[in-house]
Amino acid sequence: MKKINKILSNKSKITMDNYMDIVLYDKKFGYYQKKNPFGIKGDFVTAPNISNLFCEMIAIWLVSFWENLKKPNNFYFVELGPGNGDFCLVLLKSLKNFPEAFKAINIMLYEKSNRLKKIQKKRIVSKKVSWIKNFKDIKKGPVIFFGNEFLDALPIKQFKIINSNIFERYASLKKNKVNFFYEKAQKKHVNKLKNYKLLKNNGVIEYPEHGFRELEGVCKKIEKLNGGALFIDYGYVIQKNQDTLQSIMNHKFNNLGDNIGKADITSLINFSLYKRYFNYKNLYVENILTQSEFLQKMGIVERFKIVSKKMNISDKSNLYSRLKRLIDPNMMGENFKVIFAKNKKCNFSLAFK
Ligand SMILES: C[S@@+](CC[C@H](N)C(=O)[O-])C[C@H]1O[C@@H](n2cnc3c(N)ncnc32)[C@H](O)[C@@H]1O
Repeated sequence: MKKINKILSNKSKITMDNYMDIVLYDKKFGYYQKKNPFGIKGDFVTAPNISNLFCEMIAIWLVSFWENLKKPNNFYFVELGPGNGDFCLVLLKSLKNFPEAFKAINIMLYEKSNRLKKIQKKRIVSKKVSWIKNFKDIKKGPVIFFGNEFLDALPIKQFKIINSNIFERYASLKKNKVNFFYEKAQKKHVNKLKNYKLLKNNGVIEYPEHGFRELEGVCKKIEKLNGGALFIDYGYVIQKNQDTLQSIMNHKFNNLGDNIGKADITSLINFSLYKRYFNYKNLYVENILTQSEFLQKMGIVERFKIVSKKMNISDKSNLYSRLKRLIDPNMMGENFKVIFAKNKKCNFSLAFK
């Protein structure tokens, strides 16, 4: 805590995205470098941590995509932000039921946190899996990207319109406490907001500077090598103009400026903005679905019935409560959305039509 304060006090003020980048990803003191945040003992639980059923639905979607691409002998699957590796482990296990697809797949994991990378390397031992630092390492296609709760972990910028002027949110350290404030925004940033038609309504405007930067390489690869990208995240479709930043520690809300390096910070994803971004990058975007719609169209309820048939009552009710958590509209079912962007030549749209 003291050391990360020092990093912040070296700078007189930093923009919100730089603040998030330091407190989450600083190589020594950042949250993702210091903690394994997943699971009951951590700070939060993600869909792959909740149930294998979730991962199996993505695995089936992936195999169908590969079939649609006419079963190439080699294809590349890139998981963005694999966390503790839960999803990849279930994917490998599920693909054993599809030997041809298993033979053809090359799994690449793209992870920023060295600590999580270590955990992944310890847990995932397979010749099928490698780690990449850069999308330039993806030389051949087709390539399919997947990120669960990847976009919401990326730093965002925040702006506000006051009397027709645009202000950007900054952080600074004052008497050992983080202080957030707004200052007039630079013209280059205002232009970006204009380009994306984000200045229509008053309130807080959130701009995923880092998300767009990361997706630049993703989109280029899809356009050049064929394939697509599937993202699942907590977010909304109709513009909110609200401050959606949220800090969590030990499964409880935390003030944004407290427990630096010990608490997670995420934002809600503006899915319609990402759709516009993908369209600008010359990709085709299918409908944005809720997680509930996507998983049910992929057959998660039927899968639950098959898997739970031979279970005792207690295991069955445990699995049922996990299924419910994933698809119930009042739980993750509607808060989480799914977006699929693909090469314009590609006609795969399973679950989206
Ligand atoms: C909220 S976690 C989600 C983990 C996992 N996908 C899951 O659903 O359990 C976000 C993940 O993205 C990684 N991450 C964040 N920013 C990244 C970046 N710029 N490049 C690669 N990985 C990143 C984090 O270290 C972490 O593994």
